[in-house]
Amino acid sequence: MPGIAAAPKTPPIVKGPWPTGSLTLFAKDPIEFFMKYSPQYEGIYEVTSIFFRVATDFKQMMIITDPDYVKHILQDNNRNYRKSFSNEPLKLLLGKGLITSEGDFWRKQRRLIQPAFHRERLAAFAQIMTDECAALIKKWHALNDKSVVNLSHDMSEMTLRIICKAMFTADVDDAIELVNREINTANEKLVARVLNPMSIPLWVPTPANVREKHTYDAIRNVVSSVIDKRRKSNARHDDLMAMLMEARDEDTGEMMSDEQIKDEVATIFLAGHETTAVSLTWLFHCLDENPEAEAKLLQEAKTALNGRTPVIEDLKNLEYTRMVVEETMRLYPTVWSLGRQSYQDDVIDGWSVPEATNIFIPIYYIHRCEKYWPEPLKFIPERFNNENSKNRHKFAYFPFGGGPRLCIGNNFAMMEMQLMVPMIIQQFHLQKPENFKFKITPLITMRPDPEMQMEIFEI
Ligand code: HEM
Repeated sequence: MPGIAAAPKTPPIVKGPWPTGSLTLFAKDPIEFFMKYSPQYEGIYEVTSIFFRVATDFKQMMIITDPDYVKHILQDNNRNYRKSFSNEPLKLLLGKGLITSEGDFWRKQRRLIQPAFHRERLAAFAQIMTDECAALIKKWHALNDKSVVNLSHDMSEMTLRIICKAMFTADVDDAIELVNREINTANEKLVARVLNPMSIPLWVPTPANVREKHTYDAIRNVVSSVIDKRRKSNARHDDLMAMLMEARDEDTGEMMSDEQIKDEVATIFLAGHETTAVSLTWLFHCLDENPEAEAKLLQEAKTALNGRTPVIEDLKNLEYTRMVVEETMRLYPTVWSLGRQSYQDDVIDGWSVPEATNIFIPIYYIHRCEKYWPEPLKFIPERFNNENSKNRHKFAYFPFGGGPRLCIGNNFAMMEMQLMVPMIIQQFHLQKPENFKFKITPLITMRPDPEMQMEIFEI
């Protein structure tokens, strides 16, 4: 009937065994679930369970796979969506940092911090990145040829040292060492809480909780001591910490409180190293599987650098490297899924999304969906040359998320990977040991399990 809008449709439901419903299938293996059910529906479907009827904060759960719908949630109507329930445990360490905060508070913080991550300011960190990579290369050269290294571990250690140095530069070696020691424990504890909503609350003083709290306190205290030290001295610093301490709101002139600085530093430590380390780990796995891509990469590195350490001006001549990084993050997006919860009822392209619906956006599936990616399982870096990228939907490829909550460290991470890869591959060929098998494990980040082992061959 003209003039009367059609009532919103209810998204189709994936049924599952009674009483736990399709949530059981999802929880058992979320990646397999996405890959099996997403192609059967038109960009939106629902997972059900009897639990949702009794839970107060979790009325409904939907999966969104159409890039237009993703754009609606992350960008066009982003104010109707907050981060999902799985973010809550992170607040134990991150307080109201950028990842965990919402609304006007988040907007104010993002405005304050954004300038610290502008491309021009990041250039100052290039040398930290190449120095740390050179240190890793030196360590590997000291090993025998064909030694097996734990690549996951080595990449994680390297990216953590980089983010620590970018944060504190050189004046606080003991701070860097402490963060190095504690942040991985913090990461593990937080992942455990995200995966198990029934964890004992931190305020209950069980021995395990006391240890866990000690880890969070240690990280926050180290930041306090750096703040104190800097406030007492007149020395100039040119690092992320200085940028956070000096940031002023353009309109009000307001600066961050010490508590807020602690939240943001902890957030950047946590968000800024594991994601990059895991992406680099996947990249060397992809090169091991695709020798022709490795050969092209090496050729480009030789032409652009001829054995010299790259500097920021070289990045424009390392285009194939960029494409290899992007193709790796397509097949292996470390942040494999985004979670949101609707504040109010919404309608997306005629589909009804009620208030308090939990939404999963499976980046992993969308990045491998045949509709947007011909031969999706093949590693083809050329997909990311300028010509082939021209007409791509912005939300068919989004390893760094999108909309206003786009990863603030995307340029930092890209620069880090683009500088490091040519340094490593000019010195070593990496190959998985013959019998090494792993599974793709979707925790907060999507990692290989067990950790990636590689034999290293000097070139
Ligand atoms: C390959 C490396 C990285 C990947 C794949 C990645 C991915 C992401 C994604 C997908 C989001 C959005 C999450 C959401 O919308 O729910 C995000 C947010 C964020 N990332 Fe990254 N990230 C990486 C590196 C970094 C680095 C190096 C830093 C800092 C130095 C960083 C800091 C942050 C912060 C602070 C946020 C929250 C931003 C906000 O909500 O305003 N990330 N990241």
